[in-house]
Amino acid sequence: MSDVTQNISAQEQGDLVAAEQPLPLFDIEGTPSMGRTETMQDRSMTRRQLLEAAVAGTAVLAVSGRGQARAAGVPAALGGQPVRTAPFPRWPAFREADEQAVLPVLRSGVWSRSKVVDEAEKRFARLMGAKHCLATCNGTNAIITSLWALGIGAGDEVITTPYTFVGTIQPILLAGALPVFADIDPDTWQIDPARIEAKINSNTAAILPVHIIGGVCDMDRINAIAGKHNLKVIEDACEAHGAEWKGGKVGTLGDLGCFSFQNGKSLTCGEGGAILGRDDNLMDRCYSYHNFGRPKGSVVPRHGESYPVLGTKCRMAEYQASILITQMDSFDAECKRRSENAAYLTEKLQQIPGIVPRKEYAGVTRTAFYYYGFRYKKEQFDGLSRERFIAAMRAEGIAVDASLGVLSGTPMNKEGCLDDAFQSKGFQRIYPSEKLSNYRAENECPACDRLVGETVGLHQGMLLGARQDMDDIANAVAKIYEHRRKLAAAG
Ligand SMILES: Cc1ncc(COP(=O)(O)O)c(C=O)c1O
Repeated sequence: MSDVTQNISAQEQGDLVAAEQPLPLFDIEGTPSMGRTETMQDRSMTRRQLLEAAVAGTAVLAVSGRGQARAAGVPAALGGQPVRTAPFPRWPAFREADEQAVLPVLRSGVWSRSKVVDEAEKRFARLMGAKHCLATCNGTNAIITSLWALGIGAGDEVITTPYTFVGTIQPILLAGALPVFADIDPDTWQIDPARIEAKINSNTAAILPVHIIGGVCDMDRINAIAGKHNLKVIEDACEAHGAEWKGGKVGTLGDLGCFSFQNGKSLTCGEGGAILGRDDNLMDRCYSYHNFGRPKGSVVPRHGESYPVLGTKCRMAEYQASILITQMDSFDAECKRRSENAAYLTEKLQQIPGIVPRKEYAGVTRTAFYYYGFRYKKEQFDGLSRERFIAAMRAEGIAVDASLGVLSGTPMNKEGCLDDAFQSKGFQRIYPSEKLSNYRAENECPACDRLVGETVGLHQGMLLGARQDMDDIANAVAKIYEHRRKLAAAG
């Protein structure tokens, strides 16, 4: 995982459900009979019986086929055979088409932004159903550009979520604005719309919802709040390419939508980003900013000067765009496969006590996946810590992690970069010292703190595998659940 995700390690580089319900057959062989559910009754064992047996440490997993012994035996962490030794699909997926697209660009000698980037923008706008797209060098700079283009800066407050990657927060601080944190919804893990209004004051300029790990924020409620208080909405869709709210693609639902094409993302060209928008003048401003403040469309020089506005350079290169274009060809098919595999996996995992997959709002018509995430409730695993659960999963050949490429322990409302910014001359001059010293206390987010202590996730690349791969994942969790007592005692 560390080669594709961005979190530190990689960046630098129920409750028991109704006891009589059938337990799914975790088919290690991964038969093509998708969704096949052989009931426990078929095997003369009810869920209650199995759970009782499991508690007694005598349960046999309901697995079949070649892998039965490995899935039902001693956990690999205790010296047994791993459920799986085969690698999961590699990400990014390199294809000949990528090579064929990038070579002519390299040979042309035009590597800096030109026609191929123009084409990638058109293609991504079409894919997302957006009026305009501007390609950028990465997602962080897409957000920086958006904030600038909307005129958000020193003294402004931007309401966002603490459960996000640092690439959401640093752009706000770099603009000289204050990130203000509204706690998360514990079920969906997205910013809780019910907590946003209490954070609004006369300095509030924007809401920056983040569609985290490919899930979707409640955009109806967020847009309604923004409309009521005359606030801008910048969607951070860096992890949610192709996700939909009521049929509309995320990134097209606010004033501007920002994307990342970094290595681990479900649409990638190594590094890259994009802004989607519908307002012609606003998109001209974005373009100008990303190109040193040069004139563009409605951004015109007043006195014939070359750089009428302040800008920087964060353009995408031609070779990045060429890969992005070919990667878009397989994007829809990959999304479909991830969704089908994720649904299948959820069906299995949600039946294991102590595993609580992330949920979506009713308005979500398509989930995208950057990570597949669930809460791990150690109480139901005899106190086996999350770290040891993860190590046991890894020993079974399933590379799960706690950070989900988002954050690895410290929620964003407690990150050190906030303090560093607050100690800078700019912040000290802009903001009253009382405001900065009360900041931590006013930005407590206990629901996020709890979430961060319980998350476990699988990178989206693992969802591109076969049905059998999902069986392996679920079987590994079930095996650890079955042997939880011994694993916890092993200390
Ligand atoms: C939620 C979120 N916001 C912003 C970013 C920044 O994107 P990039 O890494 O392309 O700069 C990322 C990317 O990792 C992200 O996951």
